[in-house]
Amino acid sequence: MFGKFSRRHFAKLAGLSALGMAARPADAAAQPAAERPSPASFPKDFVWGTATSAYQIEGAVNEDGRGRSIWDTFSHTPGKIEDGTSGDRANEHYHRYKEDIGLIRELGARAYRFSIAWPRVFPEGTGKPNPKGLDFYDRLVDELLKNGIEPYGTLYHWDLPQALEDKVGGWRSSETSKAFGDYAGHVAARITDRVRSIFTINEAGRFVNFGYGWGIDAPGLKLPDADVNQVRHHVALAHGLAVQAIRARGRAGTRVGPAENIAACVPAFDTPENVRAAEVATRELNSGFLGVILEGKYTDGFLQFAGKNAPKFTDEELKIISQPNDFVGLNIYAPQFYIAASDKPPGWSVLPFPASFPHMNSEWLRVGPETIYWAPRLAAKVWNIETIYISENGTSSEDKLRADGQVYDLDRIMYLRNYLRQLQRATSEGVPIRGYFLWSLMDNFEWIYGYEKRFGLYHVDFETQRRTPKLSVAFYRDVVARNAIGV
Ligand code: NOJ
Repeated sequence: MFGKFSRRHFAKLAGLSALGMAARPADAAAQPAAERPSPASFPKDFVWGTATSAYQIEGAVNEDGRGRSIWDTFSHTPGKIEDGTSGDRANEHYHRYKEDIGLIRELGARAYRFSIAWPRVFPEGTGKPNPKGLDFYDRLVDELLKNGIEPYGTLYHWDLPQALEDKVGGWRSSETSKAFGDYAGHVAARITDRVRSIFTINEAGRFVNFGYGWGIDAPGLKLPDADVNQVRHHVALAHGLAVQAIRARGRAGTRVGPAENIAACVPAFDTPENVRAAEVATRELNSGFLGVILEGKYTDGFLQFAGKNAPKFTDEELKIISQPNDFVGLNIYAPQFYIAASDKPPGWSVLPFPASFPHMNSEWLRVGPETIYWAPRLAAKVWNIETIYISENGTSSEDKLRADGQVYDLDRIMYLRNYLRQLQRATSEGVPIRGYFLWSLMDNFEWIYGYEKRFGLYHVDFETQRRTPKLSVAFYRDVVARNAIGV
């Protein structure tokens, strides 16, 4: 019987349902969100937020003394960015930040994670700070606070000062780790009177391999394994030095931790053996960054696997790297490893993905809502973590602005409602997740994909800079208002 339907029929039906959906947000508003029953609530004081990063939204790359970053160089290298664009203009957030804070306010979300561009603060990476460097972030933070939104700052979201890459080889040198510590101390001295929580480094798990091993991200290097392991070690060292500097120069009580795309392990299916296997795999597969930060040592498995390519380090460095953190941020998008127990050493195996495994609009973004349950649960268990934030989660979607002025991003809503259900499952079972930052507030420069991949709750027309709420704005606003998911 379905065979009788033509494409045209389906298109008609799709059009009708779109009309129906357009009426939904208004229906929901009929009964105040906070009064609707909440079968699946999040803990009281759960922090709801959104996230962005400097290079992806600010633009104004040549203004007020900002130095060049490795992403300026990389995005202007022909062939590196799929649509040939760069972050030169991006969302013009540097000038439109007040309007953008208005968008956060409309969501009802009381927290916002942004990043500080190192080359705005130290145009050469080290040396004399740019007097105007932190002014923008002062204005941003003040405006956030004025609107009742708590700022969460990130110190490094991949925009390394080009001068450091040129002078010392960027993250290939521990000079860069030291420079990062100094920069962190400088920023802490200036903003921690108002910013209480600071993420140090965003996604070492991506930029080390992609930027230094595979040549996909800035600075576009393809170094041998030994050098990549050394780069990762220098990044971990930078994290530790930053924690020390923030404690030394920031206001007492400032909270600090990493924002890491943990190698997310999920038991292939739930048996005690597979869960135990996924736990061991979580520890081993994250030893190179999260593990060494949280344990103060690389695991024997990690060192054996690396063999002669293992990083070189001193005990003193391990001590610095493993300064206690106040929280751990986990960026969680997709299941990375499905794990099964195995009779053979090391007692667990990574199962191959079938080609038919579903993914979202970004091909790498496989759909696995259970990841946001398992990754924090296993991490909390393995490293005894007391405070976790989901520092990023979200999806890109085709996100076409329709003739009626709406964006029906139903795939994003499908993704979010499933992930948030699993997040609620985790918090209700006592996994210590205290907050969630949806990536992203608005469409922005998605690195090597340019502006083709849209992750925002708000649609951005990059010609006119017009921001338009997508349907998921209504969805997220409802979740935030009720501190719950589902009806
Ligand atoms: C993680 C990165 O931190 C962020 O910059 C990026 O845009 C999102 N993933 C989506 O790919």
